[in-house]
Amino acid sequence: MNKPKVFLTRKWPASVEAKLQACYDVTLNIGDRPLTADEFKHALQNYDAVCPTVCDSFPAEVLNVANKRCKILGNFGVGYNHIDIDAAKAQNLIITNTPGVLTESTADIAMTLLLMSARRGAEGDRLVRAQQWQGWCPTHMMSSDITGATLGLIGFGRIAQAMARKAHHGFGMKIIYFKPSPAEQSTIDNLNATACNSIEEVLQSADFVSLHCPGGEATQHLINQQMLDLMKPTAHLINTARGDVIDTEALINTLKSKGIMGAGLDVYEGEPNINKGLLKLDNVSLLPHLGSATIATRTAMGEKVLNNLAAYFKGLAIPDRVV
Ligand code: DGY
Repeated sequence: MNKPKVFLTRKWPASVEAKLQACYDVTLNIGDRPLTADEFKHALQNYDAVCPTVCDSFPAEVLNVANKRCKILGNFGVGYNHIDIDAAKAQNLIITNTPGVLTESTADIAMTLLLMSARRGAEGDRLVRAQQWQGWCPTHMMSSDITGATLGLIGFGRIAQAMARKAHHGFGMKIIYFKPSPAEQSTIDNLNATACNSIEEVLQSADFVSLHCPGGEATQHLINQQMLDLMKPTAHLINTARGDVIDTEALINTLKSKGIMGAGLDVYEGEPNINKGLLKLDNVSLLPHLGSATIATRTAMGEKVLNNLAAYFKGLAIPDRVV
């Protein structure tokens, strides 16, 4: 019997690619080149499973291509706002994702950005490299304390809770959060966390605000100028969720006018094309979407896709089915 045909849009960790090759007739993207919409359409027409990832765009126009062979998109990533879910449903396409395995590494990057923003880490690094450092002095590059400060989480899912654990138990931070549905009592008790009634309340009260909501239409520009104006001038904003949750122009205005002290970003509107206004600012720390980028996490993400495909091809219940 012919093996199912599987298409990977980007390069994956070698160990997972090898496992896939043992089970399927796999087409790899050896050069790791970003593919075009036409190439995605061709893959949908010629493969049983297509495995996209968070930087690939699958709008309705791509998913509605005629003569599709593909029945399942095994997404490499937990977020799936790059796939038009309504169009996928209408086409009876199964979508899977990779939840759970990137929780700690993404929370670590959120903490990294919090620390970088609070202590001006990226700015200090730039100064030293540029050989502009004039030596230690009592008022040089003073920054914000982390220990005992209040961390406000917008969204309180797995990654937010992992960040809260690191911040509370590691740095003695107070935790406040906004979540539309109540969090589990044991989680609240363990973190001594306080629920806020609104996003506005978090923004007004926190010294550090970290965003943990999904991307997509419902959260687009959730953090706009009006919301940024609520934050304390001493506060920092951290985003490891999705770039379009923040109105970038409003953030640039706020950082320029010192409406907040700093920001730490791992994700961007229209990434990897970053708004040039951000690049000119010293009070923003910028990372290239590194949330899940550890060897172990990326391997575990690939293993999750493998399990989802195996279940699908064996006709079993698919563990991480989102559609
Ligand atoms: C995801 O899986 O959605 C992350 O953004 C990748 O780091």
